[in-house]
Amino acid sequence: MAGPGSEQPDAGTSGKGLPSAQRVGVCIAGTGVALPERKVTNDDLAQRVDTSDAWITKRTGIKTRYYIDGDSTVRDLARDALLAALTDAQVEASELDLVILATITPEMACPSTAARVAAEVGANPAGAFDLAAACSGFVYGLNLASSLIESGRYRNIAVIGAETLSNHVNHDDRRTCILFGDAAGAAIVSRSDDPTHGVLHQAMHSAGQLWDALFLPRDLSQLPADLDPNVTTEPGWNGQLDTLQMHGQEVFKFAVIQTCDMIQEALDATGLQPEDLALVIPHQSNQRIMATARDRFGLPKDKLYINIDRFGNTSAASVPLCLHECRRDGRIKAGDLVLFLAIGGGMTWSTSLWRV
Ligand code: UT7
Repeated sequence: MAGPGSEQPDAGTSGKGLPSAQRVGVCIAGTGVALPERKVTNDDLAQRVDTSDAWITKRTGIKTRYYIDGDSTVRDLARDALLAALTDAQVEASELDLVILATITPEMACPSTAARVAAEVGANPAGAFDLAAACSGFVYGLNLASSLIESGRYRNIAVIGAETLSNHVNHDDRRTCILFGDAAGAAIVSRSDDPTHGVLHQAMHSAGQLWDALFLPRDLSQLPADLDPNVTTEPGWNGQLDTLQMHGQEVFKFAVIQTCDMIQEALDATGLQPEDLALVIPHQSNQRIMATARDRFGLPKDKLYINIDRFGNTSAASVPLCLHECRRDGRIKAGDLVLFLAIGGGMTWSTSLWRV
C-alpha cells in the first residue's frame, strides 16, 4: 500500500492547502485493533437466556464475542487501537492533525472521548471529536478524513471505531443480547505521494424517520409515543432504559435492501463491475445480510470479508476490525479497489470506495 507522504507539510490544520489543480493522494497508512480479554460464547449466553448455540449460529453466524470487564472503558480500547495503528503506520502521535472517534458508547457527552484519547496518546493539540452514526460511524469517519486530506489542509487523521455495547444491552433480552460485542479498531489516514490512491466514491445517508427501529433511550419520555412502556414482549422495547432497543426484522429487511443498493450505487457512480472489486468490507451485522448481498452481486466468498463469527456485531468497530485483519493477512494489495460499507441506527448508511 502507498505510504504516507514524505515531504514536509506545506499546510497544517491552519495552513493554506495545495494548489487546486494538484490532486492529493490519500492512503490508509496503518491499522490497529484492541479487544477485551473476556470471550463470551453462545453457550455462555444460553445459561442466562432461553437461546442456543444452534439458533444463534444459524440466524446470525455469531459464535463468540468479547465483553469489557471491570474498570476498563471505551477510552482504553480506543487508545490501545490507536497506539497500535500509529505503530503500524510509523506515524508519531504528534503528527496527527485530527482524531475522529466513531462511537455510540462514549464515556460522557462532554468531553468527547476522542479528546481524552488524543491527549493520552500524545496527539495534542490535534483536533478531536466523537462521531455518532452508530454502526456507520467508522465509514462516515473514513469519508470525512479522506476528504479533509484531499483538501490539502490536513496530513494525518486517525479514524477510530470503538464500542462497549455490552454495557448497553439488556442481558435478559435474547432478541438483542446475542448480537453485540465490544472492540475498537483504528486507521491512520494520511496524505500519499501517489495521487491515484484514495477515495473514488463516497456516500453518507440517513433516514431519521426510522429512528425507533434501533435506539438507545435514556428515559421513558424518549420512547415512541404509541408504545406502552409496560409491554416489553413486542420488538422495539425490552423494558430497560439505557439499553439498545431494536425491531430486528425491520432492521434486517432495511439492511438487506440498503446493502445491495449501496454496492450498486458505488458501481454505477464509478462504472465498475462487481468483479473489479478486490474486496468488500461490510459492517458485520448478520451473516445472512452479508451473504444475500454477496450472492446478489455474484461475489466469490473470499471477496466479501466476514468475521462476525468471532466478534459479533461491534457497531462502529466492526469495519476497522475487518480492515485490520485483511491488511495483516495480505488480502489487500497496493492498487486494489476496496469497498467499505455500513448501516446502523439513525438509520444511517455509508459507503467508501478506495483505491488503496
Ligand atoms: O448493526 C445493525 C443493527 N442490527 C442488525 O442489523 C440486526 C438485524 N436483525 C437481525 O439480525 C435479526 O432480525 C435477529 C438476529 C435479531 C433475529 O433473527 P430473526 O430471524 O429475524 O428472528 P425473529 O425476530 O423473526 O424471531 C424468530 C423466532 C421468534 O420466536 P417465535 O415467535 O417464532 O416463536 C423469536 O422469539 O425466534 C425467537 N428468538 C430466539 N430464539 C432463540 C428471537 N431471539 C432468539 C434467540 N434464541 N436469541
